[in-house]
Amino acid sequence: MREPWWKEAVIYQIYPKSFCDSNGDGIGDLQGIIGKLDYLQQLGVDAIWLSPVYRSPQDDNGYDISDYQDIDPIFGTLADMDELIARAGERGIRIIMDLVLNHTSDEHPWFREAKKSRENPYHDYYIWRDGQEGAYPNELRAAFGGPAWEWVPECGQYYLHQFSVKQPDLNWENPAVRQELYRMIQWWVDRGVGGFRLDVADLLGKEPDAMVMAEGKMLHPYIKEMSRAVFQQHDLVTVGEAWSANTQNALLYSNPDGSELSMVFQFEHMVMDQQPGGSKWDLAPLPFVEFKKVFAKWQQALYHKGWNSLFFENHDLPRSVSRFGDDGAYRERSAKMLATCLHGMQGTPYIYQGQEIGMTNPRMEIGEYRDIELLNMYRERMAAGVPKEQIMGSIYAKGRDNARTPMQWSDEKNAGFTEGEPWISVNPNYTSVNAARAAADEDSVYHYYRRLIALRKSCRVLIDGNYEPLLLEDPYVFAYTRTSPDGQILVACNFSGREVPCKILDGWEEAEVLIHNEQEALLPGRLRPYEAVMLKRCFCGRAG
Ligand code: GLC
Ligand code: CA
Repeated sequence: MREPWWKEAVIYQIYPKSFCDSNGDGIGDLQGIIGKLDYLQQLGVDAIWLSPVYRSPQDDNGYDISDYQDIDPIFGTLADMDELIARAGERGIRIIMDLVLNHTSDEHPWFREAKKSRENPYHDYYIWRDGQEGAYPNELRAAFGGPAWEWVPECGQYYLHQFSVKQPDLNWENPAVRQELYRMIQWWVDRGVGGFRLDVADLLGKEPDAMVMAEGKMLHPYIKEMSRAVFQQHDLVTVGEAWSANTQNALLYSNPDGSELSMVFQFEHMVMDQQPGGSKWDLAPLPFVEFKKVFAKWQQALYHKGWNSLFFENHDLPRSVSRFGDDGAYRERSAKMLATCLHGMQGTPYIYQGQEIGMTNPRMEIGEYRDIELLNMYRERMAAGVPKEQIMGSIYAKGRDNARTPMQWSDEKNAGFTEGEPWISVNPNYTSVNAARAAADEDSVYHYYRRLIALRKSCRVLIDGNYEPLLLEDPYVFAYTRTSPDGQILVACNFSGREVPCKILDGWEEAEVLIHNEQEALLPGRLRPYEAVMLKRCFCGRAG
C-alpha cells in the first residue's frame, strides 16, 4: 500500500495578515497569496497551511471567528478563497485551513444569542457557571492574562474563555455543537480544501470544574467522532496542535490506523529555553543536550506508530535563526544549518513564511507591537513592577510578533509587502534580507530550502529511515543517522559559532554529499562554525 501523500509532503505556513497585500490597505490578503503561488511552487512545497481567514473581529488576528463559513473582508471574499484553492491546485499545492474549534469570537451569532439569557437555545453552546460578580467559579487563568471567567449580568453567570474575553470556549459536551462544527468542516471539504490544522486540539475535552483543560477524558473520543464524521471520508491531512502532547498520547492523535488525525504538532522542543515552572517569558539558555534528547525520544517513540510535525517556527514562535542560530555574521549559514537538522528527521516539515529566507526577530518600540498576548503580558508585568528592560528582553526573545512582521519580498518600499502603511512595522533589515535577493543568489537560504525539499522527494530514507542519535552528550554537535534497507544518511550540525571536533565524520569520506551549507569541502573530523552536512551511503548489493 502506498503511504499517504502527507508523509512525503513539505508544508508552508502562511500568516495571511503579514504575507502580501494586494490592495494597499496595509494588510495581507488572499489575492496577495494568489500572486505569490509561483514563488511557492518554485520552492517546491506541497501544501499551504493558512492561518485563519474567516470573518473575525481580529482580536487575536483571526483566531476569534465570528463566521466559520465566510472570509473576513480584510482578506477578500469566498470567491477569492475558491480562486486560491483552484490556482494552488493547478500547481499541485493543497490548501490546509486552520480550524479553531475550541472557541469562537464573542461576536459569533451563537454567542450573541447565548448571552441573552439562560433559556436561549444557544446558551448551552458555551460553558457557563453560576456565581456572583467578583467571585469566580474557580482559579482558572486565561492564556492571555486575567481570570478565565467573564461575568454576564443578563444571565447571572460566568462564561469560560481560555484565551481572551473575546474568545468564549465552545461547549463540546453539547452534541449539537459538535454536529454543527462537523457540518461546517464538511462544507469546507466540499469547497476543495486539502486538510485542516486543528487549533489547540488538546483543549477540546476540557473539564473546567476539575481544572483539567488539556487531555480531558472526552478529548480522544471527540476527535475520533469528528474523524469518523468527516476526516476519514476524504483524502485529507489533519494536524492537531497540542502543546500538552507527550510521546504516549501522540500515538493516539496520530495513530496510523487513521482513527484520529494524520499527525500531531507538539512543542516539547519549543519550551526548553525557559525557566522551570515559569512561562515562556522567563528566559533561560537552551539546554542543548536535553534538546537533542527530546528530539531523539520523539523520533524513536513515533517510529511506525505515529507521525510528527517537524518545525522550528510558526506564527506563535520567534524566528529560529535568532533563537537557535546566529542572526548576525552567520545568519545564512546558521539558517541553513537549522534547516538541515530538521529536514533530515522523520515527520512532515513545516516552513513558516520568511523562514526560507532566514528572516530574523525585529526589536521594536513597545508601541509598534500588536499582539494581544504580548501587550497583556507587558501591562501585567509593568504593573507588577518588573523593570521595563527585562520585559522588553522577553518580548525580543519570545514575543509572537517576532514572526508576524511583514514578509520581506524585495528591497523596495515596505519590503514590497504593501503599497500602503503596513499594519505592523517591517523589519528594517529587509534591504538585505528579502526574497528577490535570495532568489537571485544560488547560494541563498532560499535555494538551500528548495534543494532540501527536493531531497525529500528523491530520497526514500528521509521518509522512513530509522533514527539513531549520535554524540548525544556533545555540547555543540547535533548528529544522527537515518537507516533504511537501501541506505543510510548521516546528518551532522554544528550549533555553535566555533569550529569543533566531529569524529563521527571519519569513515564517511566516500559518502555522497546530499547537501552541505558550505562551499569548501568538509574538514576531516571537524565542523566549522554552524556547518551542517547530510551524507548518504548506499548498502551495496541491496536495492538503492
Ligand atoms: C493557537 C494559535 C494561537 C492562538 C491560540 C488561540 O495556539 O496558534 O495563535 O492565539 O491558539 O486560538
Ligand atoms: Ca489588503
